[in-house]
Amino acid sequence: MKIGIDKIGFYAPDLYVDMRELASARGIEPDKFTIGIGQEKMAIAPITQDTVTLAANAALNILDDSDKKKIDLVIFGTESGIDQSKSAAVYVHELLGLDSAARAFEIKQACYGATAGIQMAKGHIALNPDSKVLVLASDIARYGLNSPGESTQGAGAVAIVMSANPRILALEDKSAYFTSDIMDFWRPAYSDTAFVDGKFSNEQYSLFFETVWKQYRSKSGLGFEDFEALCFHVPYTKMGLKALKPVLEVEAKEMDQQRLLENYQKSIQYNKVVGNIYTGSLYLSLLSLLEHKEGLKEGSRIGLFSYGSGAVGEFFTGIVQPEYQNQLKIAQHVDQLSVRKKISIEEYETLFVEELPIDGSTVKLAIENDSAPICLSGISDNKRQYINKQR
Ligand code: HMG
Repeated sequence: MKIGIDKIGFYAPDLYVDMRELASARGIEPDKFTIGIGQEKMAIAPITQDTVTLAANAALNILDDSDKKKIDLVIFGTESGIDQSKSAAVYVHELLGLDSAARAFEIKQACYGATAGIQMAKGHIALNPDSKVLVLASDIARYGLNSPGESTQGAGAVAIVMSANPRILALEDKSAYFTSDIMDFWRPAYSDTAFVDGKFSNEQYSLFFETVWKQYRSKSGLGFEDFEALCFHVPYTKMGLKALKPVLEVEAKEMDQQRLLENYQKSIQYNKVVGNIYTGSLYLSLLSLLEHKEGLKEGSRIGLFSYGSGAVGEFFTGIVQPEYQNQLKIAQHVDQLSVRKKISIEEYETLFVEELPIDGSTVKLAIENDSAPICLSGISDNKRQYINKQR
């Protein structure tokens, strides 16, 4: 039985910062951000968007009534959760009006969370072929104003419906994974910004890619010639390339290198203008490939490299399905990104330090300024109040 991705969509908040303006404000040569890092724009979440609303908005764009009835498992991958106990999945389950005969929970392993969710969903569908699983990947990446990681922030979510006989990508069974306890990037519970050893994290990302690729190659007997494209976890769009190029140069023929490097460019178009969305980044890259590469052939193999600091890496694969193009919402995604509002660096700095009360006081937020259908409308009695304006 084929199992995999039947639907995929994303949501990014309606505000962004231009990376050239950020560079100028920080006294940095703009080419460092646009070429050296590879980012054009960075999505900024207003206070009325959190990981719950970003994910719910992403899912709202793809679900129909039949999905809502059939989804019996909601898995929410995030490393910017809003509660130590209650999972973000339960909030989204309610906001979308999903059937109550469902499981819902949250999982965490930095940017690897959603991949763990996808593999878990695959097992669930193998046992329950009629079920559908909603996998959500949602995060707000925060390193701090004026920090070395500032140019690699972002905000957004990807929603994926997994099912049997998927119409977009059937996941193959062979996969290679690797875990090692390292401190390249982490965020203690008392901090709302990440701690990072930037150079070390880059080295480890590349090392993990090389490790899982070699492991995958010997498990599967496949090589770069068997892949139409490779998608990477994209903390910034130069990162995947930095890991891929040295391995390609040693192992791949000229024509395979050319194809994979060309398709890498297709796979980073959305990430370039959204920024790092942590656990959703790999899946935003997959979506970018599907929506920017003209006419991928049925049966093409796509490789996916997932990396979550701390760290876990996995390389797995999927096969493009004949009807995949009918399942995409290209116009909606292009429109969503083009109507975003650019904010100045001063406005971004003000939003960055804006905080919800942590002393139990009540707050009502100005949701009329947020174009998203699902928003955080305030806090009362220590409970987040969410609203779906479409209901
Ligand atoms: P940095 O020190 O600001 O930048 O750190 P740099 O000096 O390394 O320069 C970056 C690149 O810009 C270099 O290119 C420069 O040559 C180039 P490279 O050598 O890499 O090819 N450059 C220029 N290019 C053109 N014109 C210019 C110019 N000047 C310089 N004028 C760093 C960059 C990414 C380390 C920093 O932003 C950071 O710490 N970011 C956060 C950590 C991160 O994203 N790590 C990635 C791997 S870990 C990961 O992916 C997991 C993660 O997503 C978290 C999770 O799992 O949850 C982060």
